[in-house]
Formats: sequence, structure tokens, C-alpha cells
Amino acid sequence: MSARRTAILISGRGSNMASLIDAARNPDFPAQIALVLSNRPDAPGLATAKAHGIATAAVDHKIYAGREAFEGSLQAMLDTHRIDFICLAGFMRLLTASFVERWRGRMINIHPAILPSYKGLHTHERALADGVKLHGCTVHYVVPEMDSGPIIAQAAVPVLDDDTPETLGARVLAQEHVIYPLALEIAASGRVRIDGNRVIGAAKTNDNRTLVSPRP
Ligand code: GRF
Repeated sequence: MSARRTAILISGRGSNMASLIDAARNPDFPAQIALVLSNRPDAPGLATAKAHGIATAAVDHKIYAGREAFEGSLQAMLDTHRIDFICLAGFMRLLTASFVERWRGRMINIHPAILPSYKGLHTHERALADGVKLHGCTVHYVVPEMDSGPIIAQAAVPVLDDDTPETLGARVLAQEHVIYPLALEIAASGRVRIDGNRVIGAAKTNDNRTLVSPRP
């Protein structure tokens, strides 16, 4: 099977994007990063992608009258680049149900918490306020309901006594960079089956790496 033509949608820094670009350099990787698209023309991640020789585009949500018009341009850009798989990586726009349905099973997202806990924003602050001892990140298929959808990969990290949102966030981010490439590999390979909210067959990757929590 040829590599899936994949777009990464970003809004900012793009560190997860960089980890995906890096993984996709391997010729055996089942996804090829064909486009990095931002809704913010000034997103620093665009320059990083360009430096890697990846096609980039900006579709500025501010110049559109509404979500449908914005997504019309987004879809046109994806069509131009013959994209058939999408990774949301710090993309800070909510997508309409019709756009999400169009990409169902072909669009994945990374969230900085162990879903279904801590959907939404400020996950590290909320985890610290609740006193949880484990926190982490999740890669999941995108469904119309925000931060929901079948889970492909998760990683857990310890919450330490002297953590701040920044130190905890940095520990989580390091694991995001590990599990997002793994999850893209799993999802793009077509070896998994979605059964309700479960992703069946996601436990192992091609080279038999098992998805487990890192050691603290
Ligand atoms: C990450 O923490 C990701 O989980 C969240 O937004 C952040 C994006 O960071 N959705 P980056 O742009 O990938 O560096």
C-alpha cells in the first residue's frame, strides 16, 4: 500500500507536527506528510515545515464569515494536495459535524490528557488542581463531539509534588512526541478496525513495539 497523503493541521508552535514529519522520513512509514496547513498565517510551525521542504498553506479563519466558508477553503486546499488523511496537531478551531463526518476514520487528534478525563483546555492546571497522580496524553479518531472518539494510543506520566502546569506540561509533551507518530503509523497502516468506541488491533506497531506507559 502506498503511503497515505497526510495533512497536518496546526495553529501554533508545531512540535507534534515536527515529530510526525520526523517519523514519516522513514521510507516504510505508512503516511507521507504532503501538507502542513495552519489557520494562523503567523504560526511558527509553518516555518519549521518549510525548512523540512514540506508544502505549507495558511487558511486564515478570520477572513471568513463563518465556519462553513472557512472549511470550504480548507477542503479545497486539501483537495488540491490530494490529501486522504488528516492529523490535528494543536489545531485550535472547532470543526463542524459535516466536515468531521466527511473525514470520519481518516482524521486523528492529539489531546494533552488521558481521555475521557480532562476534555477541553487547561488540562495541566486542572489535573494539578484535582491532585491526580497520573496525567498524560491521548491520540484518538475525531468525531463531532469534542475530544471524544475511538482511542488509538495513550501514555501516562507521574504528577510530582513540585509540578507546575509548565513542568507537568513538558513531561506530557515529551510523551506526545512519542505516541503521535506511533498512532499515525497504526491508523495510516489500515491494520486497525474501529468497533464502536474501541480501536481493535492498536496494541502493537509494525516492529512489535507495544504501547505502554513510560517509566517515571
Ligand atoms: C499539544 O499539547 C497538543 O496536545 C495540544 O496542543 C499542543 C500543541 O503543541 N492539542 P504543538 O503545537 O504540537 O507544539
